[in-house]
Amino acid sequence: VVANQKGGVGKTTTAVNIAAALAEQGQRVLVLDLDPQGNASTALGIGHEPGTAGMYEALIGDQPLRRLVRESTEHPGLFGVPATVDLAGAEIELVPLPQRESRLRLLVDDALTPPAAAANPRFDFVFIDCPPSLGLLTLNALVAADEVLIPVQCEYYALEGLGQLLKTVDRVRADLNPALRVSNVLLTMYDGRTRLAAEVADDVRNHFAGAVLDAVVPRSVRISEAPSFARTVLSYDPGSSGALAYRAAARELALRGAGSPSTDRHGRTNSR
Ligand SMILES: Nc1ncnc2c1ncn2[C@@H]1O[C@H](COP(=O)(O)OP(=O)(O)O)[C@@H](O)[C@H]1O
Ligand SMILES: [Mg+2]
Repeated sequence: VVANQKGGVGKTTTAVNIAAALAEQGQRVLVLDLDPQGNASTALGIGHEPGTAGMYEALIGDQPLRRLVRESTEHPGLFGVPATVDLAGAEIELVPLPQRESRLRLLVDDALTPPAAAANPRFDFVFIDCPPSLGLLTLNALVAADEVLIPVQCEYYALEGLGQLLKTVDRVRADLNPALRVSNVLLTMYDGRTRLAAEVADDVRNHFAGAVLDAVVPRSVRISEAPSFARTVLSYDPGSSGALAYRAAARELALRGAGSPSTDRHGRTNSR
């Protein structure tokens, strides 16, 4: 799950580009767009006009994810479930529903666990792109996930507000999802010309120690242009500094997964 309750810090950009980089490296990757704005759907070239079936139909309408998965136009092996504006209502419509915090987990488990998986090609990675809040949608994502990836913008106030996210992660771990851990922190929008960026990066590395990925995503116009062409930066400008940084981050993230000999809750040995 890619989470940070601040908006505009690079959650969506990180989710789609790391997902695309892993797909490029031969993995099968699913992106669940959990932000009603549907920016991840846009970047993946997956339609999300009103009326499109997507995460709303899954969470509120109990439709299995495998019926909602679309292939991205971006890379072979990259798939997504879109978000439409309807999803904004889900934040409130979830409240009276049974298992309101665990609905996404049940859906993800169903999509990843045989026999459903037997009829379906299996996914190596699932990324959930969160809205900029700590409401029920983000809570569902944290309950469904094994790992949290936090993008941190290398600007003033970067660490502000993260305390609330970390507290929420702790609470979810204690109550609903003991396996959850903040496994990766990614420094984004790094401007190498400013001292501030270097200082923020140092602060974040001191605070999160080993969780911070070595790869740092630079502030880059190519990254911000890509979504307006419904592209990831990996396909929009494959040789750009942003594409290289996201490829490096994806490789690190995948290799870190290989470091833990554990089996995940779907009974698969983590072999990467
Ligand atoms: N490294 C970067 N350099 C320049 N612009 C970026 C970078 N990362 C993201 N952006 C732009 O910043 C804005 C916010 O990023 P986004 O990923 O949508 O954040 P969030 O999902 O956290 O709201 C978007 O317009 C995006 O294109
Ligand atoms: Mg976003």
